[in-house]
Amino acid sequence: MKQLVLLLLAVFAAAERKRYDGYQVKRVFPKDSVGLEHLAQMRLDIRLDFWTEVRKPSTDIMVPPEVVEELEGRLGELDLPFLTIIRDVQKLSDEQKVAEPNEDGTPRAMDWTSYHRLVDIHGYLDQLAEDYPDMVTVMSIGSSFENRDMKLVKVSTGTASQKMWIDGGIHAREWISPAVVTYILRELVENYEENRDVVDLFDWYLLPVHNPDGYEYSHTNERYWRKTRSVTESSCRGVDPNRNWDFHWMESGASQNPCSEIYAGPIPFSESETSSVAEFLLDENADRTFQGFLTVHSYGQYWLCPWGYDAIYPEDYDLLEEAGMMGVDAIEAVFGTDYIFDTSAIGLSPAAGGSDDWAKGVGEIQYSYTLELRDTGFWGFELPASQIIPTGQETWEGVKAFARYFQ
Ligand code: ARG
Ligand code: ZN
Repeated sequence: MKQLVLLLLAVFAAAERKRYDGYQVKRVFPKDSVGLEHLAQMRLDIRLDFWTEVRKPSTDIMVPPEVVEELEGRLGELDLPFLTIIRDVQKLSDEQKVAEPNEDGTPRAMDWTSYHRLVDIHGYLDQLAEDYPDMVTVMSIGSSFENRDMKLVKVSTGTASQKMWIDGGIHAREWISPAVVTYILRELVENYEENRDVVDLFDWYLLPVHNPDGYEYSHTNERYWRKTRSVTESSCRGVDPNRNWDFHWMESGASQNPCSEIYAGPIPFSESETSSVAEFLLDENADRTFQGFLTVHSYGQYWLCPWGYDAIYPEDYDLLEEAGMMGVDAIEAVFGTDYIFDTSAIGLSPAAGGSDDWAKGVGEIQYSYTLELRDTGFWGFELPASQIIPTGQETWEGVKAFARYFQ
């Protein structure tokens, strides 16, 4: 049955790529909790696409041309100051550098100077497993709604007694995330000799593309797609995979409207992309050997710890801050990129059903974090591909310093 549904969907799928001509990005500056409340209400308007959380000091919102005037009027009425930071989203997206996929479907070599398609990323994992059989294992830990593999790579030199998790690409449009997770993978494996002390500390579990359907869809059809691609009870597709985890599900910052960008799904773990990872982690962490969990997003330059579902501190916050700040300081030391450390609910805004909260609250991984990579909104999701390597370098330094905390 599902096969038939998928086939029909493929037949009717608009081959056309959505255009963003005249789409703008507004940066709104809420002054107080009233302003934040107004923005939280606005987020329910499905014509608006929030590129950031509703947060102080500013919140970025993409708006289609036909809604610009209305939005400006409402922001004026509500006494919410704003700037137009992007005047034509299509123009910006046209300038992005994407590695054109091979026509015969074979993977292209990763270069980290352009954004790569799923086949290239998965091909790279397979290549590493072939080239470094003693160190690298690739496995599929589940399949996506559209039956793509969720390829996980395990890096192990056989010396470690603790484990570290890093995933990327849970949100489709955050292209820098899989690019940086594969960059980290390269450092772990191809530069092992240089990084020995850190690599040997853990068995590393990397899932560079957590949401493969969404990632591909953001390349082929809708550049700013965020969610999975599952069929919902309405004509809108996709669930926000970072609102779908079964821990305080739907308690804050999520929606029950399938057309919303933050749709939490009909039930917790409705998405195979989230439930497969949860099951894998419960199995692999049965012996409580996972120390760290990093889930990599963009953008904003934050290193965030639980809780995300409510503005309360976990009881071991001091430890989480100490370890996380190792990462933050190391990132800042490379090129001076400023990062903010906080809990996600306090640093951004409350949102329940995230993987970080689940990893800590249910998965029993004490040191669980969300990283929001570059930048702070100048380019936003269109961070130029020329920044992949520098972002990779600083993030890798951050991960190394964080890992050494567990020495
Ligand atoms: N920007 C991320 C998101 O919206 C932040 C997640 C932080 N974690 C959380 N549990 N709210 O998914
Ligand atoms: Zn995200």
